[in-house]
Amino acid sequence: MPKQEVRTAIFPVAGLGTRFLPATKGTPKELLPVIDKPLIQYAIDEAREAGVERMVFVSHPTKAAIKHYVMDDEDLRSALKAHGKARLAHELEEAALDEDACEVVFVMQDEPLGLGHAVLCAMEHVHPGPIAVILPDDLILGSPGCLSSMIAQYANCTAGHLLGAMKVPAELSSRYGILSVASEEGPVLYADAVVEKPPAGQAPSRMAVVGRYILDASVFDDLQTQTPGAGGEIQLTDAIAQGIDRVGLAGFHILGRRFDCGSKTGMLEATLHVASKDPAYAAVLDACCNERQLVASED
Ligand code: G1P
Repeated sequence: MPKQEVRTAIFPVAGLGTRFLPATKGTPKELLPVIDKPLIQYAIDEAREAGVERMVFVSHPTKAAIKHYVMDDEDLRSALKAHGKARLAHELEEAALDEDACEVVFVMQDEPLGLGHAVLCAMEHVHPGPIAVILPDDLILGSPGCLSSMIAQYANCTAGHLLGAMKVPAELSSRYGILSVASEEGPVLYADAVVEKPPAGQAPSRMAVVGRYILDASVFDDLQTQTPGAGGEIQLTDAIAQGIDRVGLAGFHILGRRFDCGSKTGMLEATLHVASKDPAYAAVLDACCNERQLVASED
């Protein structure tokens, strides 16, 4: 039987962003920009390109700024136009979510009970069939976008759960969900287990899960029976593992470049990467390199 279409993308955006304090005291981490584009915008653009019909944001009452950002702001656009900035107004309109083109739902996760719990909060709001989950602080740059590529593979692979995956150094396994890979077919890595944040030395492979998931809808059944796992949180990985015998599991070796923008170094790396592609920043980057060399020579 052909698989059903992926019609819904879930964005878990309720997290406290503790790795990025103090910046995240006032600004949700999903609104931190890579130069001038917030992380949530990259995630939205990726889901839009993949053609999802509905976006469900699982947010927190203290993060109202996210809704303000993603929706259209007609007053701001009018003000910009009145000041002769019609082009900027148009760019904002293009970036914002338009409810005629895509259904938008906000649900609240009041308590930080984990990624699995966040996804479960979206259960009542998804279309039937498989769902996509995008973690906006895992920025994946590339064309076509990661979710589009995964949806294309999902139609042909036999697994019901398909997770974005990349190879990481063995000593970093404790930061990720890690797949136990049984066989490979091109970018699809069929797996017989997935473990959340195994200690270094106990990981079943070096293939780590990154923040893109296409999940069989039965994951909600498995989420409802989860007890706290790694870090005392309800883990999405554990619910996925519980469904392996029933629906099958595979990793999708991501094609683009991934940045952990929940960390300061990852965000800096992403910023430098994006800047290096734009001639407008060449002089600044050159000056920075020169300054680095000067500092190194003084050490
Ligand atoms: C989450 C998932 C983990 C995955 C990671 C990717 O962890 O639980 O399996 O490898 O995202 O970024 P978190 O980074 O939220 O602790």
